[in-house]
Amino acid sequence: MILGFIGTGKISSSIIFGIFKSKLKVKRIYISSRNRNIAKKLAKKYNKIKVLKDNQEIIDKSSIVILGVTPTVGFQILPKLKFSKSKKIISLISTINLEKLKKLTKNKNIVRATPLPPIEIKKGPIVICPPNKGIKNIFKHLGEVVEIKNEKLSNKFWATASIMAAYYEILNVSSNWLIKKGINKTIANNYISELFLSLSQDAVNKRSQGFKKLVADSQTPKGLNMQVLNELKRDKFYNKFTKAMDNINKRVSS
Ligand SMILES: NC(=O)c1ccc[n+]([C@@H]2O[C@H](COP(=O)([O-])OP(=O)(O)OC[C@H]3O[C@@H](n4cnc5c(N)ncnc54)[C@H](OP(=O)(O)O)[C@@H]3O)[C@@H](O)[C@H]2O)c1
Repeated sequence: MILGFIGTGKISSSIIFGIFKSKLKVKRIYISSRNRNIAKKLAKKYNKIKVLKDNQEIIDKSSIVILGVTPTVGFQILPKLKFSKSKKIISLISTINLEKLKKLTKNKNIVRATPLPPIEIKKGPIVICPPNKGIKNIFKHLGEVVEIKNEKLSNKFWATASIMAAYYEILNVSSNWLIKKGINKTIANNYISELFLSLSQDAVNKRSQGFKKLVADSQTPKGLNMQVLNELKRDKFYNKFTKAMDNINKRVSS
């Protein structure tokens, strides 16, 4: 398998790091010289990577092409590129739908995928739409594949995937709070990361029961957890959280 990445930014490089930690067999990976610094670093680290300046050359030399550019760049460059009928395309682009992608690339072999940065440690959900055995067989080495038939429904995951920075900010705020109260920075960061790792692992283990029970089980009546939850609810924290996801949903659905 020869992969070609158009756009070597955050998510493309995360996928590449994941690939080289996985058992996925790749013969070669062509990447574009943009972003220059990331491309240089990747080529230096992995000898199966070759940097090419010309996007068309990347496409021609690869069996599977991964589009890792922003929607604006996608609209600019895709109509000028030629994709042969047999070429398989994986689009990571957030807001260009399948119909538009097919028109822009004049190719029907397209799957949209939504990996997230932890793919670099072979973790996390990867939504693919439409379901596709070949593409699933690639991503199954890099995380938990979620196949969705209906594209409009698949777009809903953009909203929940967009809480990543807000999630990390909770870790950041909690750790900074400890530091300000006099806890050593290393101890604070270790404590907070271990706390959230344990909560997430517990949630994974108990996911079949849903999360409502975890919310209930982690509160003692009139206890400390109950106090924090009630304060946040009273200040409409969770309503704002839902509203933010609604707004992302509107943005990706328009
Ligand atoms: N980041 C995520 O977690 C994530 C997850 C899933 C999907 N996505 C989607 O994946 C796409 C890329 O996101 P990203 O976060 O990786 O963005 P990014 O870091 O900004 O990467 C975009 C890359 O495209 C390159 N580029 C710009 N013009 C180009 C051209 N004409 N030819 C080839 N490459 C060009 C940029 O190079 P320069 O720096 O040189 O301009 C940059 O390396 C977006 O559509 C995003 O919505 C992102």
